Amino acid sequence: MIAKTEEDFNGLKEIGKICGAIRDELVQCTKPGITTKELDEIAEEMFKKAGAQSAPKGEYDFPGITCISINEEVAHGIPSERIIQEGDLVNIDVSGSKNGYFADTGISFVVGKGDKTLQKICDVAKEAFDAGLEKAKPGSKKSALGKAVHNVAKRHGLTVIKNLTGHGVGRSIHEAPEHIFNYFSRWDDEILQDRMVIAFEPFISTFEEEVFQSEDGWTFLTDESFVAQYEHTIILTKEGPIITTL
Ligand code: CO
Ligand code: CO
Repeated sequence: MIAKTEEDFNGLKEIGKICGAIRDELVQCTKPGITTKELDEIAEEMFKKAGAQSAPKGEYDFPGITCISINEEVAHGIPSERIIQEGDLVNIDVSGSKNGYFADTGISFVVGKGDKTLQKICDVAKEAFDAGLEKAKPGSKKSALGKAVHNVAKRHGLTVIKNLTGHGVGRSIHEAPEHIFNYFSRWDDEILQDRMVIAFEPFISTFEEEVFQSEDGWTFLTDESFVAQYEHTIILTKEGPIITTL
């Protein structure tokens, strides 16, 4: 969406804050021994308390409140009886709505002490986000974000997932602009608009560049790569980006 009124800004900031707080709480609670279902129940309680709704559940009838993906799972992992272990790579993605406004945020992290490579892809996902954010200005090409993301990945000897992308957000969870790629797409000549609302989410991968869908119909997997994501909802303005989900 293009945020026009003060009501738009306030509504976007309110749901952004709610989703950011749920994300942070779930990260805090992610300890060896807890199941992803138990984490999801914490999110359910927090959404209820805030008077907000889960976007995947409300919009797509996803079998969970949040998406929690572990190790070989890249995104859209279904909360289950799976027990978190020390050293796991975990991704928590929280998206929701309140009063018709939406926000989307996610983070990958390593539980306790883990493999160095896993920590590295998490750090690089954040670095790629920051590099893309520098290009997230009204009047700039949307493709500049993906170019920045891919360049950061390459500099670290890593790559990006090409069939998962960022997207417009605001009045629904996925809206125009449809795709914010993690690489430079020469056919993408769209210009970012003032007050445009986007979910920007670099996916940094150890070597594979595509995910495939699991038989559960939701979870995205790779064969052998590990992938980290870092996502925030951003209102682009001439005065600088407003991150609603910090
Ligand atoms: Co997300
Ligand atoms: Co998203």
